Amino acid sequence: MVSRIRIALVLVVCLLLAALIGLGRWQANRQADSAGAALSHESCRQCHPAVWKQWEASFHSRAWSDPNVQAAFKHFGFDRKCQSCHAPQPVLTTGLTKPVELRERQRQSGVNCLSCHYLADRRGVAARHTIADAPCRPVQRPELTGSRICGACHDAIHQDWRKSRFRTEVSVNGEKTCQDCHMPTIADRQRGRSHLCLGGHHAATVRRGVRMSCRRQGGELIVSVTNHATGHNFPGERHNRVLHVQVFQQNAVGEIILAQQELIKGITPFRGESSADEIRAGQTFEARFPIVEPPVVTDVRLLYRAFPWLTDRDALLVHHLKLNLEKLNHEDGP
Ligand code: HEC
Ligand code: HEC
Ligand code: HEC
Ligand code: HEC
Ligand code: HEC
Repeated sequence: MVSRIRIALVLVVCLLLAALIGLGRWQANRQADSAGAALSHESCRQCHPAVWKQWEASFHSRAWSDPNVQAAFKHFGFDRKCQSCHAPQPVLTTGLTKPVELRERQRQSGVNCLSCHYLADRRGVAARHTIADAPCRPVQRPELTGSRICGACHDAIHQDWRKSRFRTEVSVNGEKTCQDCHMPTIADRQRGRSHLCLGGHHAATVRRGVRMSCRRQGGELIVSVTNHATGHNFPGERHNRVLHVQVFQQNAVGEIILAQQELIKGITPFRGESSADEIRAGQTFEARFPIVEPPVVTDVRLLYRAFPWLTDRDALLVHHLKLNLEKLNHEDGP
């Protein structure tokens, strides 16, 4: 009987100990969590409202919620790997040499403040300067200011950039980084960089990266499209973007005597064409068209679509030239 009571007592003590250890762990976790909670994504908003506003207007903020992205997820059966970069765990926490991992919470916030800033030890934010007395504990980290951090998710573009002249072009860091073009410094905010991250959905940014010119060679019109200032292949994104050159020639009474297009990159679902020829940084794509005599006016258009299903009317007219081929011949002929 006594020994039974003893065993029961030992058991109770063991259970109590286990419960205490458990409680201790729980407490420790809670503390870790509350350190994390102090640096939640939402917390950044109150102290950095200007940065927040820009991020909110950027594609990073809707990397998860965007209907096109959700539709594509559905198509791929909501695969976790597929979704990872669109609602990532902080990339410095995961480590830049490891694949990005899907976050369990707050996926709606897409690529959020913590995605790029949260330090591996979860005790502060990666920054250009260490500021000891700031509440978010900024620590100077070279990873944040170099292109590699963007490459964690933008792998293909990062590879293209590495092969381009921008990799070695001298600027502040000894290279023209992703941030130099996509997060330019802001004059009216001290030390600030734009978090808008403008790119393929922004007409002026697309226009800035590419040039178009025409010349006549015998019976042919040659249209040159040069990627002179995009820091990587153009178009940058590989799966959706479509790039075309279109030529229309009119005779003296305004009839269209030639309407022809050449696909540079992308797929055209209605015409069954496809091409994987992005234009590399610094390179030129040439399209040749016949000249139907006598054209009076020739329209040359560079059309860019974010998605293949968009019509010509919804496409971005990147460049548009109206030519007089007679004059062009005179200027550029042999
Ligand atoms: C309670 C206010 C507060 C909160 C919350 C806060 N910060 Fe800060 N943060 C500051 C102050 C103050 C500074 C130092 C002055 C400055 O640069 O604005 C600073 C500086 C920074 C810097 C460094 C700027 C530099 O010069 O390099 C970064 C990066 C930063 N914060 C990111 C964040 C992020 C990301 C969050 C959310 C996880 C966050 N902060 C939350 C107040 C805050
Ligand atoms: C390695 C990170 C990564 C993975 C994995 C990934 N994406 Fe993306 N996704 C991106 C980035 C970065 C962009 C922005 C364009 C670019 O750089 O290619 C993007 C763009 C997109 C876009 C175009 C959005 C727009 O507005 O133009 C869609 C749609 C999309 N992804 C769906 C998917 C689907 C579906 C999968 C899984 C099959 C997937 N992504 C896997 C990183 C990733
Ligand atoms: C954690 C993953 C991740 C990291 C890190 C990241 N991005 Fe992105 N980025 C994305 C995704 C996903 C999209 C596509 C969002 C969409 O279109 O829905 C995107 C979109 C973009 C776009 C396209 C905007 C447009 O108009 O199409 C630009 C530009 C961009 N990112 C620049 C950067 C730069 C510069 C860095 C480094 C400072 C960076 N990104 C770091 C995931 C990331
Ligand atoms: C795509 C990655 C990325 C995301 C997402 C991001 N940042 Fe940044 N952030 C950077 C980079 C890169 C810098 C520039 C570091 C430098 O000065 O070179 C920066 C700089 C900053 C700075 C320094 C001061 C300034 O105005 O530039 C603050 C503060 C900051 N970020 C806060 C935030 C907050 C708050 C959010 C969320 C609303 C956020 N960041 C989201 C990459 C990111
Ligand atoms: C010299 C300036 C420059 C540099 C450097 C640069 N970019 Fe770009 N980027 C552009 C221009 C211009 C565009 C618009 C044309 C396009 O969409 O391809 C663009 C487009 C993009 C897009 C949108 C693509 C799409 O189709 O939506 C992403 C994402 C992007 N860049 C990421 C990066 C990353 C990541 C790096 C660094 C590895 C980088 N860029 C370096 C100029 C630059």
